[in-house]
Amino acid sequence: MCGIVAYIGPKDATPFLLEGLQRLEYRGYDSAGVAVLAPGTKAAPGRLRVRKVKGRVADLAAALPARFKGTVGIGHTRWATHGVPSDANAHPHTDNADRIAVVHNGIIENADELRAKLAADGAVFRSETDTEVLAHLIAAHRADGGELEDAVRAALKLVVGTYGIAVLDAEQTDRIVVARNGSPIVLGIGEKEMFAASDVSALVRYTRQVVHLEDGELATVRADGFRTFTEDARTVTRQPSTVDWEVGSYDTGGYAHYLLKEIHEQPGAVERTLSGRLDERFATAHLGGLNLDARELREIRRVKILGCGSAYYAGEMGAQLIEELARIPAHSEPASEFRYRNPVIEADTLYVAVSQSGETYDTLAAVQEVKRKGGRVLGVVNTVGSAIARECDGGIYLHAGPEISVASTKAFTSTVVAFALLALHFGRIHDLSPADGRRIVAALKALPDQIRAALEQEKEIEALAAEYAHSQGMMYIGRVRGYPVAREGAQKLKEISYVHAEAYPASELKHGPLALISPELPTVALVPDDELLDKNLTALGEIKAREGRVLAVAHRPIEARLADHCLVVPKSEPELDPLLLNIPLQLLAYHAAVALGRDVDKPRNLAKSVTVE
Ligand code: F6R
Repeated sequence: MCGIVAYIGPKDATPFLLEGLQRLEYRGYDSAGVAVLAPGTKAAPGRLRVRKVKGRVADLAAALPARFKGTVGIGHTRWATHGVPSDANAHPHTDNADRIAVVHNGIIENADELRAKLAADGAVFRSETDTEVLAHLIAAHRADGGELEDAVRAALKLVVGTYGIAVLDAEQTDRIVVARNGSPIVLGIGEKEMFAASDVSALVRYTRQVVHLEDGELATVRADGFRTFTEDARTVTRQPSTVDWEVGSYDTGGYAHYLLKEIHEQPGAVERTLSGRLDERFATAHLGGLNLDARELREIRRVKILGCGSAYYAGEMGAQLIEELARIPAHSEPASEFRYRNPVIEADTLYVAVSQSGETYDTLAAVQEVKRKGGRVLGVVNTVGSAIARECDGGIYLHAGPEISVASTKAFTSTVVAFALLALHFGRIHDLSPADGRRIVAALKALPDQIRAALEQEKEIEALAAEYAHSQGMMYIGRVRGYPVAREGAQKLKEISYVHAEAYPASELKHGPLALISPELPTVALVPDDELLDKNLTALGEIKAREGRVLAVAHRPIEARLADHCLVVPKSEPELDPLLLNIPLQLLAYHAAVALGRDVDKPRNLAKSVTVE
């Protein structure tokens, strides 16, 4: 949510800033802006130039004058929290002397109080944002003399909230100061040049050597290096690490959209999630990062999974897997609700936080609440070293690779695979037989090829999507294992095509939603070949009797009397079938969105990584 980039070195900063912002645009895309320090005179070392617009990074690029140059610069792409998307509310924000420029991700909770004090001292506010407070506050401390980093430190001591910031000072043109508290900042080390960003995806084309700041840390970044220190000015040493994701993972790689690329990357993502973790000999899974031995695992009586949106639905599939394979009661709950209801934390419950980004604020806050009450939390996270991963006591990294499109697909699938591994591991410590363990190991190994096979139906799905996209809305139904699939399918359609979709357990149809069924409201029905097949077929009969249209996703063709269309997906073991049933639903949502001309990778009102409450 929101993206930050910064450059200092011998080159013109603007091309890097624009390219970096383009790469970060998936994190927020309602306005964009840049500030550069153009070389000045000895008396006035730098001239701050700022351009910011409501709209996309392309609109910003079009609005920049031809000679918008400087060797030091910062940039921002925004997802509005305080104040509507507008030119004035776009970042960077400056003080009244146009000397300090700030870009900021996060929320300053005491902004109103600080704004009142600053206004009483003469500051004139030009936006409705909380960020502008920072610009005036830092300027006020700079007026006391001292270095930019001292002014930033002093200002941040007065701030309550979360931030990742980058700050420029027209009178100290040899540095950029960055700080992190709850919103990531990563430094990129180049050859006599330095970069900073809120996400490595902006940096990988320029350098693979990076330094992740910790919460409560700041850095002074100069062309020839950096110094990291705490809010109390204590220097801390941070060793650079090497980014191991390929540069190509951040491109669309010839696909029309990131979303389509990520859907097609799923076989590889699942292979990486499974890699080195399956043990055929003992018919179990090895999960080195759990930090729990067999005895501790045996003492667990309950599993509570916490995540938001698709991560929560993946958690529902995970809970089902754990209950089935390990026979331990498991339940998934939206982290955004859990954290506000004063939850009872039990010593024999294992809490599992799920997050692709590892940054979702509600999930992070839920983890913190569990830990504060003495609970034990594992993370199922994609982004290595992210805030949630660091906060947890152990966990499973997905290794799905970067997910750029706002709608989650490959991370979702890899999360469910990670839960299957956890359930297998748990199961084999409890009562899952070696034969059943072998059955699951074999089924997991077969998944990548089965996903490939499911993706081969894309042409057929594209044609169906063009037909169904113009419906008034869609109903998604499934039973037990199929219900979370229905929920995720409906979520995908809603968020990228803006077609209303509702998910229901098929068993609940006659308790209300059957009243909605009509030719204008088609139903996507999950009809796996399992012990509930007959019951699912009965539900289809009820829909057809009310002239509803049905698109079935099944393991064998469904007779025309019960379904208008049927997509047949490869069969796995019953416990893992939901994973494969979900694949056609991703393609259906994608092609429906394309048919309706939607901005597939950047759906309206949304952003990747919701780092605010
Ligand atoms: C849906 C989607 C969101 C995220 C949710 C959690 O396609 O992408 O619902 O799943 O915002 O995000 P993470 O997993 O980053 O915590």
